[in-house]
Amino acid sequence: MAAVFSVFLTSLFVTVPCVIRLLYCLLWVPWRLQRRFRLQGIKGPPRRLLSGNAAEFRAMLEGAQSSPPLASFHHAGVLSRVVPHYHEWSARHGRPFVYWFGPRARLVVSDHDVVATVMTDSTEAFDKSGFGGGNPLARQLFGQGLPGLSGDKWARHRRVVAPAFNMERVKAWIPEIAAITSSMLDTWEVQGESRHTEFEVDVYQGFHTLSAYVISHVAFGSSYEEGNRIFELQQEQGKLVALAMRTVYIPGFRFVPTNKNRRRQSLNLELQNLLRKLIEINGRKCEDAKNLLGLMLSASKALSKFKMDIEEIIEECKVFYFGGKETTAHLLTWATLLLASNREWQDKARDEVHRVCGKFEHPNAENLSNLKIVDMVLKETLRLYPPVVAVNRTATRDIKLGKLDIPAGTQLEFPIIDIHRDTGVWGADADEFNPWRFADGHRRYHLGAYLPFGMGPSVCVGKNLSMVEAKVALAMILQRFTFVVSPSYVHAPILMMNTRPQYGAQILACKI
Ligand code: HEM
Repeated sequence: MAAVFSVFLTSLFVTVPCVIRLLYCLLWVPWRLQRRFRLQGIKGPPRRLLSGNAAEFRAMLEGAQSSPPLASFHHAGVLSRVVPHYHEWSARHGRPFVYWFGPRARLVVSDHDVVATVMTDSTEAFDKSGFGGGNPLARQLFGQGLPGLSGDKWARHRRVVAPAFNMERVKAWIPEIAAITSSMLDTWEVQGESRHTEFEVDVYQGFHTLSAYVISHVAFGSSYEEGNRIFELQQEQGKLVALAMRTVYIPGFRFVPTNKNRRRQSLNLELQNLLRKLIEINGRKCEDAKNLLGLMLSASKALSKFKMDIEEIIEECKVFYFGGKETTAHLLTWATLLLASNREWQDKARDEVHRVCGKFEHPNAENLSNLKIVDMVLKETLRLYPPVVAVNRTATRDIKLGKLDIPAGTQLEFPIIDIHRDTGVWGADADEFNPWRFADGHRRYHLGAYLPFGMGPSVCVGKNLSMVEAKVALAMILQRFTFVVSPSYVHAPILMMNTRPQYGAQILACKI
C-alpha cells in the first residue's frame, strides 16, 4: 500500500508541474499577450484555444490556390491569391493586426519606420525567427544555414560566405552567365525556325534551369548535371516544407513515422550524402578558384574563430543550392511576363540594350551598369512580385516601438508584398507596372518601404548575383527576341515558398 502511495505521489510531483507549465504556456501567456494587444487597439481574427488561427490560415491559402485565375494580367488582385490572410485580415482588422499560430502571436506590421528600425537593429532586441518560424520540419530545407541562424554562429558563417558574392567577384562571372544564357536562347531559336515566326516558350521552366546552371558553376564549380539530383530532391523537400509551414508544429511530431516524415528523412539523408560527395570531388578545385565552396573549405582548415566544420558547410550548401536557383528564376519569370504584357517598356528596354551592348555582343562587366532601364524594370518587378513575400523577427524582450508596445516572444511579420503596394508611398497607381518609379532623381521612397532583399545586417547575400544574372539574361533575351504573353498563359500567382505562377509562364516569342 505504501509503495502504491509513493508511486502515486511521485507521479503527482512529475505531472502536476508539467500540466501547470502547459496551462501557463498555452493559456495564460497567450491570454495575457492578447489583452496587451487589445489595450493598444490591435485587433485580429478570433483565436482558437490551442491552434490559434492556423486552420483558417491554411484554409485561406488552399482556397486561394484553388480559386479561378485572375481575369487578365492585372496586378491588383495578386495579394488575395498570394497572401489571402494579409489581404483579408488587414481589410477586416486594420494595420497592424495580430493572428496566432498555436500559442505564438504574429504581429503583422507594415509601418515603414518600424520595419526599418527592427530590420537594422543591432542591439539584439530582435532575433531572426528562423526559417519557417522555428518549425523543425521547415528547418530541414535550409534552417541550419544562414537564414536560420542567429548570434555568433550566424556572424561566423556570414563572415566566411559573404565575400564569395561581393560585386567584384560577381562581375567576373558575367562571361559564364552570358554563355549559359546564350545556350538557353539557342534552344529557343531552334523552335523559332525562321525570322518572324512566333513560337511558344514556358519561361518558368527555362529560367529555373538557367539559374540552376549558374549557381552550380559559380558557387560550387560543378556542372548542372552534378547538381541536378540535388535540385530535384530540394524541389520535393520544398513542397513538403511549404505544407509543414501551414500547420502548428506539435513538439516531437517529426519523430512520428508518418509517410511524409519518412519521406522527409530519406530526402534529407540522400541530400546530405550527395553534398558530402560533391564536396569531396570538387573541394580542391574550388579552393583554388576561391568560390563559395572553396571559401568555406578554406575556413574549415583555418585555425581561426571563423572555422566551419563539414556539417556546417553541408547546411550552407543546401541554402545556396536552393536560394541561388529559386528566387532568381522567379524574378526573371515575372520580369519577362511584365515586359511581354507591356510593349512600350519592352521596346524602351530593347533600345537601351542595343545602344549600350550592341545587337549581337554579350553584356559585359563594363557596360552592364549602363543598363539603367533594364535595372528599373527589374526593381519594379521585385516591387510588384517579390519572390520572398515576408520577413520575420522575434522580440527577445519587451520593447516599445513608436506607439507599439511589443511583448517579448512576439513574432513580428513584415509583409514585403503588402508594403510594396502602399499607396501612401507609391501613389494611387501602386498596383500598376511603372518602372519610372526607380528612375534616377525620381521621388525617393522611405527605407522601410522597399525591401525585396531584406535590409540591415541580414540583407540577402545573393543580391548582387541575382541582379547581375537577371540583368544579363533579360538583356540577351531582348537582343534576340520580341515577345508577348501567350493566349495560353493564365494569370494565377500563388505562394509556394516564393511567389510563382501556378500554371507556368508561357510567352509567344519571335526572332529579331
Ligand atoms: C531575386 C532574388 C532574391 C530575393 C528576392 C531574395 C530575398 C531575400 C530576403 C528578403 C532575405 C532576407 C531574409 C531576412 O532578413 O530574414 C534574403 C536572405 C538571404 N538570401 Fe536571398 N534573395 C534572392 C536571391 C538570393 C540568391 C541568388 C542567394 C544565393 C546565392 C541568396 C541567399 C540568401 C541568403 C544566404 C540569405 C540569408 C542572409 C543572412 O541571414 O545573413 N538569395 N534573401
